Amino acid sequence: MGATGNTEVAIEASHIIKTFGGALAVDDVSLRIAPGEIHSIVGENGAGKSTLMRVMAGIIEADSGSVTVYGEQVASGTKSAIDAGIALVHQELSLVPEMTVAENILLGAFPTTFGFTKYKELKEIAAAALAEIGVSVDLDERVSRLSVALRQFVEIARAVARQPKVLILDEPTATLTPAETDYLLRMLQRLAEGGMAIAYISHRIPEVFEISSHVTILRDGKQVLNAPIVDLTPQEVIDSMVGRELKKDLESHRVANPGEVVLSARDITAPRVNNVSLDVRAGEIVGLGGLVGAGRSELVRAIIGADTRTSGRVTLTRNGQTVTLSSYTSAVRNGVGYVPEERRTDGLALIMSVSDNIRLPNRQQLSRFGFKASRMITEFAQSLADKVGLRPPEIQREAGQYSGGNQQKVVVAKWLGRKPDFMVLDEPTRGVDVGAKTEIHRLVKEMADNGTAVLVVSSDLPELLELSDVIHVMRDGRITGTLTRDEASEQSVMSLAAGEAEVVA
Ligand SMILES: Nc1ncnc2c1ncn2[C@@H]1O[C@H](COP(=O)(O)OP(=O)(O)OP(=O)(O)O)[C@@H](O)[C@H]1O
Ligand SMILES: [Mg+2]
Repeated sequence: MGATGNTEVAIEASHIIKTFGGALAVDDVSLRIAPGEIHSIVGENGAGKSTLMRVMAGIIEADSGSVTVYGEQVASGTKSAIDAGIALVHQELSLVPEMTVAENILLGAFPTTFGFTKYKELKEIAAAALAEIGVSVDLDERVSRLSVALRQFVEIARAVARQPKVLILDEPTATLTPAETDYLLRMLQRLAEGGMAIAYISHRIPEVFEISSHVTILRDGKQVLNAPIVDLTPQEVIDSMVGRELKKDLESHRVANPGEVVLSARDITAPRVNNVSLDVRAGEIVGLGGLVGAGRSELVRAIIGADTRTSGRVTLTRNGQTVTLSSYTSAVRNGVGYVPEERRTDGLALIMSVSDNIRLPNRQQLSRFGFKASRMITEFAQSLADKVGLRPPEIQREAGQYSGGNQQKVVVAKWLGRKPDFMVLDEPTRGVDVGAKTEIHRLVKEMADNGTAVLVVSSDLPELLELSDVIHVMRDGRITGTLTRDEASEQSVMSLAAGEAEVVA
């Protein structure tokens, strides 16, 4: 292997093939990344991106093919991949919530003497890794108390602490706001300038054009394109991802026709939430904007009783009857739906089939099918899976076997059949590809048109503007402003969200 001068290769994957139960997830893919290169991997949900990255990082074994780092063969097994200098930041957060920031950063690699962890050293290494990426967070804080964005940065610090030669990031910006994303992209450019080879997965095409020098496009496990970024336009990338010309699906603006107040939250106070009141009417979509960490998820969780609130009162009114929501169980029983930010821990039973996951919240509704239950239920679950464009559309498969974006579609599908009176969606299209995103937007609007009161949290500004009839912007646990559809723009939301303070992760 002629590893000289500008042909130097940091990591090379050759002819990788990976099947799951006979289905090809990665079909003969080869790629090389040079030191200092940022190489993006793009493709629709289920295209094989995460699988390819997990093979390259030695986490799972390929059926055939090989991976080398600076010419040395990488055996599969996490340990040998770390030794070879590869670090992977997973698509799903993999930190241990009960442990501290410092412990998480060095998880599995604690410095020890005679079996005792050397805490001072542990903290020094963790602090250095955080300093390297320029993020300040208390080393002794428990990860469960951090915002999702900060967890993401801790996750990256954990990869960087191992001083890898090759860094792989699987959709690291899915939970970040524009400013935080910007910060992360600058950081990756700095790491690349230092000689690190970076593989980068994202559904956000503008980011891909901003930082990468090469792009690999996967479709149904096959490599359909591998080219320098300068040879491509964003439209070409999208077209070859989907394998056809994606017609510009202009999303239809709906004319909202709000009815009675369905959900009324008064003086809600909870950790990170400071005395917030809001109403959501039948047929209305209320958006919550703000930076990650502003308290939006905490607010919606306090409203539906998923987290305890220190004070405040929440009522749900339907058909003239008002109930007070005190716990999450009572909320669900009274017709509240919730798509949480953390799908893997809160939204989905990974070892259950898609079909069973969809049935869970629909039990009451399905029991009316009586004897014919089994077949009807399957048809019902299948129709919902089809509505969200689940791929492959095999609802008897375990949810955990689906790609990240497809898991998100299942979480949304769960609630579509139930027609909740009040629906909360926290980052509903996180990790979902361009086509499926439009589809989910359509379904959310349809829900509202059918009379559901909808509350949406989204850090994706175009999405927030697209969906919301009215937007409350939060900062530091309070609502700092409310924008009508006409007043709302990316700028007006961001300036309320950021206030005077500088926006940095
Ligand atoms: N453990 C598994 N068992 C069975 N099938 C799997 C497993 N993991 C992945 N697959 C399948 O392999 C294919 C590729 O999935 P992968 O997770 O690599 O997609 P992806 O490109 O990362 O998608 P996304 O953008 O949604 O994250 C999918 O069809 C998926 O269902
Ligand atoms: Mg993936």
